[in-house]
Amino acid sequence: MRLSRTFSVMVVLVTLFMVFFYLTLNPDMGTRARPENIVNHRSLRVQEIDAKTQSLEQKSVTVPPPEVPNMTVSAMLRQTIPQNTAYWNRLLYSGLKKLDEGGDPVGNYSDWSHCRDAQEILQTNVHDISSYPPLFQSFLQVMKCRSPPLLLNQPNKCRSSKGEEDSQTFLLFAIKSNPRNFEQRQAVRETWGKEGVDHSGLRVRTVFLVGTASLDDPDLNPLLSLEAKYFGDIVQWEFHDSFFNLTLKMNVFLQWTLTHCPHVSYVFSGDDDVFVNTPALLSYLKSLDASKASRLYVGHVISTATPIRDPKNKYYIPLSFYDGPYPAYAGGGGYLFSGALLQPLSTARSVIPFFPIDDVYAAMCFMALGVSPEPHPSFLTFDVKVEDRENLCVHKDLILIHQRSPSQTKKLWKGIHSPLLTC
Ligand SMILES: *[C@@H]1O[C@H](CO)[C@@H](O)[C@H](O)[C@H]1NC(C)=O
Ligand SMILES: *[C@@H]1O[C@H](CO)[C@@H](O)[C@H](O)[C@H]1NC(C)=O
Ligand SMILES: *[C@@H]1O[C@H](CO)[C@@H](O)[C@H](O)[C@H]1NC(C)=O
Repeated sequence: MRLSRTFSVMVVLVTLFMVFFYLTLNPDMGTRARPENIVNHRSLRVQEIDAKTQSLEQKSVTVPPPEVPNMTVSAMLRQTIPQNTAYWNRLLYSGLKKLDEGGDPVGNYSDWSHCRDAQEILQTNVHDISSYPPLFQSFLQVMKCRSPPLLLNQPNKCRSSKGEEDSQTFLLFAIKSNPRNFEQRQAVRETWGKEGVDHSGLRVRTVFLVGTASLDDPDLNPLLSLEAKYFGDIVQWEFHDSFFNLTLKMNVFLQWTLTHCPHVSYVFSGDDDVFVNTPALLSYLKSLDASKASRLYVGHVISTATPIRDPKNKYYIPLSFYDGPYPAYAGGGGYLFSGALLQPLSTARSVIPFFPIDDVYAAMCFMALGVSPEPHPSFLTFDVKVEDRENLCVHKDLILIHQRSPSQTKKLWKGIHSPLLTC
């Protein structure tokens, strides 16, 4: 009797001990639905990517403000762009003046939430702003906003599989895309933008640069983050992906590349709907001598352009906004530049006020460094002659061709690689 009572007490004690022990092992039991576990969609996405990239991510979520540039602007810039009363010209020259005095030419633009210029400021400075097209007015409002938050990152893009800093990326394809252009991206991945090492050991990597869809559009972000995870090649920032934000895209891309791919030999900046003959591009790059290789800026050069003053044109620039010719520039459909220029460009971009046309803006930055674009006959950012559109031999010799649909891209790629083709 006594024995069995002692036994029951022991069983109860052991059971209690085991329950207690189990609870210490699982401190979260019963608290699964803690409020901090109900994260919103966006931070969930960042966390998911975080899990893969861990400590590196922390550094890149907020873009550090660029340092006060230590640079001398080439005389070419002041010679080409006149000093006058147009708003942009005034901004440039007041920035250059600050730079000469050792200050920060563009001002404090590290804060994304407080960078908009109030309508009152704009109206005071641009007397006829109300006559500007609405989108152009909204460009002016956010012209000083330069550091959008990063939503999807690929911090290991240019690292080796062991996670080491990689000095071997020969060519980085940096492709301007839009959240909705999945088909274009997929055609690029399957053809000219395919990552890997070519027969002579040169490594090619690809990133797609995207902003966010407009709030009126269906929300593509869940799909985009799956795509980013699956392919590991999408970098996304939180700004509306639109024509007038392409200069912003170029800026954040330069910052990103400097942070994550600083040792890349060459960068190709282009659209997701062009056709690139990657083997021809690589053999051109291999043929360059060292002095040229370090200051390359090459593409289809438009050398004597001036602003379009027709308000109905996509490229319309009001006279009271910018007054002067354009510098010679490489068409934004696709151009190449040296990785060695990334750091200098990153400094130059902080001196040049944002311009609504991104390839003109890029040329202004290169010009601040004293680098002029070099024309190359194999970059056709316009198009080949109509009668040559189906001619594979013509395409085999070209490096870049303007605007091809995803299926045309696949067909062309297959065609120029066909062993049956003799040119
Ligand atoms: C600016 O750059 C020059 C040359 O790169 C360097 O010698 C100088 O120390 C730099 N000045 C500052 C303040 O960083
Ligand atoms: C820039 O603005 C941010 C946010 O307002 C502020 O924290 C920072 O100190 C400013 N930097 C400079 C150099 O004024
Ligand atoms: C550029 O992006 C910002 C941030 O999303 C947005 O407020 C602005 O309207 C966009 N600009 C244009 C012209 O679409």
